[in-house]
Amino acid sequence: MVKKVFLVFLMLVFSLLSVFSVTYVVGTEASFPPFEYVENGKFVGFDMDLIREIGKLYGFDVEIRDISFDSLIPSLMTGNIDIIVAGMTITEEREKVVDFTIPYFSADQSILVRKGEGKNISVLFEKRKIGVQTGTTGDLWVTENLVDKGFLPKGNLTRYDTFNFAVRDLINKNIDAIVLDNPVAQRFTKTDPVEIVGIIKTNENYGMAVAPGNEELLNMLNEGIRQLQENGKIDDLIQKYFE
Ligand code: ARG
Repeated sequence: MVKKVFLVFLMLVFSLLSVFSVTYVVGTEASFPPFEYVENGKFVGFDMDLIREIGKLYGFDVEIRDISFDSLIPSLMTGNIDIIVAGMTITEEREKVVDFTIPYFSADQSILVRKGEGKNISVLFEKRKIGVQTGTTGDLWVTENLVDKGFLPKGNLTRYDTFNFAVRDLINKNIDAIVLDNPVAQRFTKTDPVEIVGIIKTNENYGMAVAPGNEELLNMLNEGIRQLQENGKIDDLIQKYFE
């Protein structure tokens, strides 16, 4: 009897607790190591740790959803996700639709090719096959600077949903180069037979994004980023994910 009462009591406490604990749905695209990727069936990486750390500071849980990169902003707008944490560059165009946090990381683009073929940066101007991730700043750069200017025939640009597919196609010689964020390219040189042959200085800053007007959440994320910058936690994460 006593046991039963205790059990009911425990259940009550737990259900009350679950009412008070907030869960934010975080949208990402998890083929972007070391920022977000899947390891042993779990979402890991710099961004994933970062948002979980902010959750610890402010007492919220995080539920990660892996969606295609070009669906992240639409998902935020329809309320399917609460926060984008996806190594997303703060751009003027995107700022028109979503609200970004303060920057938490900087990056440039780089040109990734198969290892040991003696290629160089001119690979971009030889009408070869170039791959990008749909809707990324790399896609934008290639479209504006190569396709629109007539250096690259439209049909030579392949847009991929994930970088895993793009890198696989590069290794299989279905494409000849990928334009992508430098830290991610760096990481692929450690796991795959690929190398970087050039950096495109784009001076990008990554921010998390929330739906426009979601000021409370935005302030919390900004404050969280600031705190983790000050207490050295972000440096720890850099140590952990970039050697
Ligand atoms: N920084 C680039 C952009 O904002 C690429 C981001 C890709 N992120 C990802 N999780 N796949 O367009």
